[in-house]
Amino acid sequence: MQNNNITIENILTPEFLSDIDSWHGHIPFAFELIKNLKPKRFVELGTHKGDSYLAFCQAVNHYQTETECFSVDTWQGDEHAGEAPELYGENIYETLAAYHDEKYHTFSTLMKMKFDDALSSFEDGSIDLLHIDGLHTYEAVKHDFETWLPKLSNRGVILFHDTIVNYGNFGVWKLWDELLEHYPGFGFSHSYGLGVLAVGKETPEWIGDICSLDKTQFDLWKNKFEYFGNSVLSHSFKRQIHYFKNLFEQRDEQLRDLNEEKDQQLKELGENRDRQLENKDKQLNDLNEKLEQATKALAFAQMIVKRRDQRLADLNSQLEQIGKQYTGAQQIATERECQILELTSQFSK
Ligand SMILES: C[S@@+](CC[C@H](N)C(=O)[O-])C[C@H]1O[C@@H](n2cnc3c(N)ncnc32)[C@H](O)[C@@H]1O
Repeated sequence: MQNNNITIENILTPEFLSDIDSWHGHIPFAFELIKNLKPKRFVELGTHKGDSYLAFCQAVNHYQTETECFSVDTWQGDEHAGEAPELYGENIYETLAAYHDEKYHTFSTLMKMKFDDALSSFEDGSIDLLHIDGLHTYEAVKHDFETWLPKLSNRGVILFHDTIVNYGNFGVWKLWDELLEHYPGFGFSHSYGLGVLAVGKETPEWIGDICSLDKTQFDLWKNKFEYFGNSVLSHSFKRQIHYFKNLFEQRDEQLRDLNEEKDQQLKELGENRDRQLENKDKQLNDLNEKLEQATKALAFAQMIVKRRDQRLADLNSQLEQIGKQYTGAQQIATERECQILELTSQFSK
């Protein structure tokens, strides 16, 4: 590279990388941009977990550029933020604020509000570097560009993320094509694309030098950033792999614990069931024994009743016999009495 101004050396190592890696590939450029532009004021529209914003802050801190930094976001999410808005809990803002406040509170402010509501906090012509990374529809990004443009200084530069995403209702690419016809600028095509637009009357020298490269030189220069960007990405992939590996290990452990708990419960259930079956068997045996005894007692009682019936029948027939004998004896007695009466009457004549 002939132009010494734009040689790239000693790129910083990013200190903050979240699991949202869509901006990671541009972090080396953000470092170089801050180092070379030394903006007095930097504003980011759309910060989410802070991957881009904290990279700018790291560079401001490292290169002592005395840049005032502001991040604007509702931290409520939007349909393109890679996470459903309802999942954007308060903890995203709080985690970012805790990290940010400890390291960068002396020169940086997080503004939790809508982009439009933050406009009145900045005087016209006061921002040297603006990063627009809110909602990515054509209408939204055009609105953000038009409402914030007056706030840019004479040496103002605007960055647009997602300039090469051309599906769904993403529309930054369209606005980017339109703006390149009116302002000097250049773009990267890795990590969803990043557009760099010099909107001020005086294009900063570093940006001007890059814009004046011919295509071959520019591609060479750009490829270096793509290479550095990819190495950040591979670092964040490694971190993510490590993160997921840990997560899977934790899940495996939880699964093992749950299985052990399940086995224990099944064992206890089995033991309970065996115990209950044993009790039921015992109760059944007792009942069977009682039934057997009752059946025996019944048979004995039936036998006694049968004997009594027999005895009764014998006695009845004896009684009948005696009755008959008695009737016979009475007849004989009556006959004798008649004979006596007859003899008595014969004697008395
Ligand atoms: C794509 S994310 C930002 C990503 C971030 N620059 C990074 O490096 O990961 C977009 C963010 O913009 C915020 N946002 C979108 N439209 C907004 C608006 N009009 N006002 C405030 N915040 C907004 C969302 O809450 C979301 O966090």
